[in-house]
Parts: sequence; C-alpha cells; structure tokens
Amino acid sequence: MASGHRPVLYQEILEAITPRPGGRYVDGTLGGGGHAWGILQASSPDGLLLGLDLDPQAIALATQRLIEFGERALIRQASYTSLAEQIAGLDWPGVDGILLDLGVSSMQLDTPERGFSFQVEAPLDMRFDPSNPLRAADLVNRLPESELADLIYRYGEEPSSRRIARAIVAARPVETTSQLAQVVLGAVGSKRRGRSAQGSKGAREKSSIHPATRTFQALRIAVNDELGGLERTLPEAVAVLAPGGRLAVISFHSLEDRIVKQYFRRESTDCLCPPRQPVCTCGHRATIIEIIHRPIQPGASEVTENPRSRSARLRVAEKISL
Ligand SMILES: C[S@@+](CC[C@H](N)C(=O)[O-])C[C@H]1O[C@@H](n2cnc3c(N)ncnc32)[C@H](O)[C@@H]1O
Repeated sequence: MASGHRPVLYQEILEAITPRPGGRYVDGTLGGGGHAWGILQASSPDGLLLGLDLDPQAIALATQRLIEFGERALIRQASYTSLAEQIAGLDWPGVDGILLDLGVSSMQLDTPERGFSFQVEAPLDMRFDPSNPLRAADLVNRLPESELADLIYRYGEEPSSRRIARAIVAARPVETTSQLAQVVLGAVGSKRRGRSAQGSKGAREKSSIHPATRTFQALRIAVNDELGGLERTLPEAVAVLAPGGRLAVISFHSLEDRIVKQYFRRESTDCLCPPRQPVCTCGHRATIIEIIHRPIQPGASEVTENPRSRSARLRVAEKISL
C-alpha cells in the first residue's frame, strides 16, 4: 500500500467493503487516508470515494496521500454525522460501501498540542474539530462535581469516578494533560496498576493501563459527542446504501461496540414484538444482514506491529434488497 502508517484491520476492511470498479464509497473517518487509499486502489480505474473528517490536519494529510487518484477522491472537512446531506449533494445512485473507523488517530495522539494523550504535557483540548467551542478544559473546570463524576463513569466506565471528580474539583483550575493525569493518579493511587481491571464490563485488559486512561477517554467522548454522533449516523448510513452495499464499523471500546452491535441486531431482525406476543403488531422489517456475527479483531502479528490496534473490533452489515 501507499507510504505511511498501516491502518487498523486494513485487509479485513478491503474484504468487508469489497471495492470494485465503478463503485461508490464513503470513508466517514478519513484520518491519514490509509483505508481510503486501499478502497480507491481496489476500485480502479473509476471507483469514487467521498472522504470526510472533522480534523483539518487529517484532511491535509489525506489529500496528499490520495493525490494520485485525482478527482476520484472527493475530500471534505465535515462530520460523518452529515453523511446523508453530503451524499445528497452528489449525483450518486447509491453507496456501495461505507467505513467508519472510529475514535482518535495515531497522528492526533502523537501531536502533543491536541491534548489527547496524558503522556505529554499539553493544554486540555481533545477536539477533533478545532472550531468546536467546547474543550476538555471547559468540562473539567466548569461542570458541577456530580455531573463530572457521571460523565467519567458513563463515558469512561471508571469505577472510581466520584473520587476522581472530587479530586479534580479540589485541584481546579486543571489546564493541562499532565496536571489532570497527576490529579487522577493522586485520587485512585497507583495501586490499581498490575491487577485486573474491575468494574468495567468486558474489560479484558490488565490494569497496567494508566489510571487516567478512562478519564481521558470519557472527556474525549464528551467533547466530541462521539456516542451520540454514532447513534444518529448508523441509520443514515444504512439509508444511503444501495442494496448489497456494506457498512463496516471499527470501534475501539465497549461503549461504541455496544451501540453498533445493538443497532445491527435490531436492524437485522424482522419483528421486534415481545417474544410471547402471538401476532406481530410492530411491523418492523429487517433492512440489513450481519455479515459476521462476532466482531473481527486484529491478529497477534498486527497487535505486535501496532499495539494501539489491540482493542479494535470490526462489525460488518449488508443492506438487504427490499
Ligand atoms: C482512527 S482515525 C481513522 C484512520 C483512517 N481510517 C486511516 O486509514 O488513516 C479516526 C478519524 O476520525 C475522525 N473523526 C472522529 N469523529 C469524526 C466525525 N464525527 N466525523 C468525521 N471524522 C471524525 C478523527 O478526526 C480521526 O482522524
């Protein structure tokens, strides 16, 4: 593939989307353009790809990466939540494949001033879109303690959310990543490291993860409305797919994966009436079939090569011809 960082589950995405010449594709989370490059390459000579990202730095990087495909790559700085609107502006009969590779990119994590990582000192920002008026520092310094605790619990699945929120409020103003990481470490202590994580459903990882990981995840999700955006977008994505078109979603934590799993289950089921009800009254009809019932995870060699891929889960659905 083209030069640059190899994206997560690259081959699996190409198998899921099955790009073909003449096809129409959407990459809703363009990032560095790695998956998009593969889709454009596999749909040569005339497949088209609409690539969206909220982050102008990602847009600049992907534009460079995809330059060889000329007008076959349509690149827009926009949210995937506007996917239906973006497609409506194109003269496309339907979309043959959509990819959402959720979350934060390596480029964003490795750019200290974006404030996504607690490994380096930076302002508490965490916005994908720099025109978003809400920064992580606003939440940390302005939310009442109980709301901050709820946020950290809900979006970080952090069992010590109340203790952490109390410590943050006591330390205000908290302006930088390392300051926040220190406050969290002080609140939960380092004793959690080295034993199994408790209280987070499905957390397979040992808690050798830094104690601030979940708090940072929670703030990032809230700043960018990541879960709300995903929930709103899944039905829109299915609606714009042509019959036989595929939707592939890579998630990186259980909250995202649960939303995708529940949506796919529901939309691949004909009747949603209670099981004991003898006659269907809901009239619900399946719009998709799940291509795989268990999420695809990266193999051992990919995880060794790219440890950040370890929590990736891919789910794929295909639109039914009605
Ligand atoms: C994991 S990276 C994608 C990497 C990409 N697949 C590649 O091959 O390089 C996720 C990207 O999604 C973007 N993003 C997050 N939320 C978004 C949204 N609502 N709309 C558009 N892009 C979004 C982030 O800015 C980031 O660049």
